Amino acid sequence: MYPQSSFSMTKKLVLITGAAGFIGHHLLDYLLQKTDWNFVLLDRLDLSGNLDRVRDIPSYEVDKGRIRFEWHDLKAPVNESLAKRLGNPHYILHLAASSHVDRSIEDPALFAMDNVVGTVNIMNFARNCSNLEKFVNFSTDEVFGPAPEGHAHKEDEPHRPSNPYSASKSGQEAFGYAFFITYGLPVVTTHTMNNFGIRQHPEKLLPKTIRSVLNGTPMPIFAKLNKKKRLEAVGSRYWINCWNTSSAVYFLLKHGKPGESYNIIGFDEFTNLEIAERIAKIIGKKLIPKFVDFHAVRPGHDRRYALDGTKLKKMGWKPEISFDKSLHDTVKWYLDPKNQHWLND
Ligand SMILES: NC(=O)c1ccc[n+]([C@@H]2O[C@H](COP(=O)([O-])OP(=O)(O)OC[C@H]3O[C@@H](n4cnc5c(N)ncnc54)[C@H](O)[C@@H]3O)[C@@H](O)[C@H]2O)c1
Repeated sequence: MYPQSSFSMTKKLVLITGAAGFIGHHLLDYLLQKTDWNFVLLDRLDLSGNLDRVRDIPSYEVDKGRIRFEWHDLKAPVNESLAKRLGNPHYILHLAASSHVDRSIEDPALFAMDNVVGTVNIMNFARNCSNLEKFVNFSTDEVFGPAPEGHAHKEDEPHRPSNPYSASKSGQEAFGYAFFITYGLPVVTTHTMNNFGIRQHPEKLLPKTIRSVLNGTPMPIFAKLNKKKRLEAVGSRYWINCWNTSSAVYFLLKHGKPGESYNIIGFDEFTNLEIAERIAKIIGKKLIPKFVDFHAVRPGHDRRYALDGTKLKKMGWKPEISFDKSLHDTVKWYLDPKNQHWLND
């Protein structure tokens, strides 16, 4: 996965930042299957970046000639020599980001550097790419802050980020719009929600739940507890499988309008308890839930996020796989002994 002499000039070239991360490598897998494009992957390979994800893509051995990798930390600008190696992409999919809310609370400045300065650095490179048709700027449902019961945020609602991670993503979005207006960069912004799928970081809800169900240990579930420590409500999220997120991004490469943002929403809303119970049912073992007051343990975490997906639906996009099938397939994949190392910290 190192620089090849050159890619064919007749095929589209795609730069994916953060491609060794969870969603980035699924997007690569999806686009390898759906197109004949070539790919340059940029990543700094931090704790959440792992090139084994890319090597684990089923078609990797066949497709590796279409992929090359460049190590770079986007806190630093893209210099002339790196710019030459990145080439002149037709699409840039910008996913590189620090994204762990707890870590953003410990080190907010790092998140401003990675997500705001990092975005400005890759956009400055993008301004000089004469072939560029779209720059997809990956943002999150969390920029809107908590969603009141019964409400789902539309794309253009005001941002009310409640922790340093979501504030840095809001800053990333603001620079995307500013580069579109000021320099005409064809920026399309996406708001995605909780993604799940295979090869996710072991600290995330799905692998964590599978581990605790298999080991018969209590699974912490974030919830709102009253003064007597009784359960009032469980945190809830909308969930989407990475395959469906990738399909929406592919759709937006064709139909997304520069300067606009799009909510990519998956399925119905589930509480974390419902998701954990469904996982336990697929495994065929009992879940031992342990309710933890989310705000006492994690200040800045919101109890509910929700996005309205009408805009993308009206344009004609719909998820490719159902929630039940994708959850079932994901859990079964983790249970296969050859994949179980992806469950370990
Ligand atoms: N995972 C989700 O549920 C979710 C939901 C909404 C939005 N998002 C957004 O989608 C994008 C991808 O998320 P993910 O879950 O795949 O994240 P991830 O943490 O799995 O991957 C991020 C990748 O970016 C790389 N990276 C981080 N900072 C970098 C820098 N300064 N320079 C170069 N590389 C850097 C890391 O090494 C890693 O490989 C992020 O922008 C995130 O904010 C994710």
